[in-house]
Amino acid sequence: MTETLTDSPAWQALRRHHEAVRDLHLRELFADEPDRVERLTFDAAGIHADLSKHRITEETMRLLLALAEERGVAARRDAMFRGEHVNRSEDRPALHVALRMPRSDSLVVDGRDVVRDVHEVLDRMAAFATAVRSGEWRGHTGRPIRAVVNIGIGGSDLGPAMAYEALRDYSDREMAFRFVSNVDATQLVEALRDLDPEETLAIVSSKTFTTVETMTNARSMRQWLLDGLGRDEASIARHVVAVSTNLEAVEEFGIDPANAFGFWDWVGGRYSMDSAIGLSTMVAIGPEAFADLLAGFHAVDRHFVEAPAERNLPLLMGLLRVWYRDFFGAQTHAVLPYEQYLARFPAYLQQLVMESNGKHVTRDGDPVAADTAPVVWGEPGTNGQHSFHQLLHQGTVLVPCDLIAFATPLNPLGEHHRLLLANVLAQAQALAFGRTLDELREAGVPEALRPHKEMPGNRPSTILLLERLTPFALGSLVALYEHSVFVAGTIWDVDSFDQWGVELGKELAGKLVPVLRGESPERPLDSSTAALVEWLRRSSSES
Ligand code: F6P
Repeated sequence: MTETLTDSPAWQALRRHHEAVRDLHLRELFADEPDRVERLTFDAAGIHADLSKHRITEETMRLLLALAEERGVAARRDAMFRGEHVNRSEDRPALHVALRMPRSDSLVVDGRDVVRDVHEVLDRMAAFATAVRSGEWRGHTGRPIRAVVNIGIGGSDLGPAMAYEALRDYSDREMAFRFVSNVDATQLVEALRDLDPEETLAIVSSKTFTTVETMTNARSMRQWLLDGLGRDEASIARHVVAVSTNLEAVEEFGIDPANAFGFWDWVGGRYSMDSAIGLSTMVAIGPEAFADLLAGFHAVDRHFVEAPAERNLPLLMGLLRVWYRDFFGAQTHAVLPYEQYLARFPAYLQQLVMESNGKHVTRDGDPVAADTAPVVWGEPGTNGQHSFHQLLHQGTVLVPCDLIAFATPLNPLGEHHRLLLANVLAQAQALAFGRTLDELREAGVPEALRPHKEMPGNRPSTILLLERLTPFALGSLVALYEHSVFVAGTIWDVDSFDQWGVELGKELAGKLVPVLRGESPERPLDSSTAALVEWLRRSSSES
């Protein structure tokens, strides 16, 4: 791209427009625009989205869409869907959309029909998942599998862990599912504590099969299995399977290639929960429900490609992220699911958003001209209301919020769900409209207390409502966020599919392991690290 983002006509127009509208209050916007809700309510693949409580006017939308046009979002989207090497720094496609294309589709990339490859793996996964679920797959001593432990980290953990929690209601309740990611042995030890090796299956999930945390946990789990299965190496074939792009390393590790499920370098870790990385999900919910999950993803993919720009939900959500990040200076973004099953969704989105767009250079390696991804965080409602919502309502920083809820509960019980829904709607109301000093005076609130009780409002939120939390609904939600991240990344012209920023820490940790063991460092350490190493060596009772 030749022109710096912030010098471009569309950006400059937005800058001027922001000056004009930044002090408008949502109260005025609602009062002045009778058609506001109609204009700013969207339906996409079963997601009902209310964007009316955003600090935007018709003109804002027009200018944001002009920015998308100027930055070539549609062209880059089409390039991604065609399998072009949009991940420039790693010189590969980012083709997660192929993972959920129906069997009848075909997409030829570098001479191969990737959809065929995808469905071949899906079929193998389905056969395996069915065998495990039905008890046909037996452990080494002839017992059926009752517990599945997914060992992976980052995208090889967060997606499966989030999806299992989200879809627990659809899972086989006779089976236990555990997720081990941290190299801190506590997580593995606690996960295995009450499991029986004879009935336990490990799924070692790693795109590269070199990630130190995963390999360390996999080795320890392998040992736990061997110890519990009479130290018979042959037992491993019935108790450890692998998911990876690096099938050679899988074999080297001692896992039978027949028990390996592959995927491809064009699937980014954080975009992989719908690849073979979803094996634990498929074992939990079964192949049919997994197919529904993929259908949900695909429905949003189609919407993203086909819906006109002004009704295109991922496009609009991505543009709004840029609007708040760069024009209002919002440094964080809260995701608040009013659904307990989505408790891990914010953590999942942290990797999706922050590893994708937490970048300081453009795809050409030049410094980015504007701030990129916000910090994403959140907790399920209503818990957050009794902790951090105070800051959302009356703090001095602007935090755009996404509120997610479902019309029908999976666990209907008395008035619980009505209360939950009343709260999600009430929070969005309070954030947007607040409570004025006049209203407080009219309500008879003593003058001294009024400033404390005043609620400024004008705090933007997106409300995403869905009918019911199903596998399809989950797939559609994830795809919605994936594409909105892509849109924002395209505006900023960053590579949303690489993650070089995680490498240095890995390298330095690798060098510090021998130092903690007592060896001399290859090069002198900085004085802070040297002193900390010294303190740890003195204080540790581990031999
Ligand atoms: O360190 C970051 C990262 O590369 C993520 O992008 C990835 O999801 C995670 O590590 C795990 O990588 P792998 O699946 O190769 O073990």
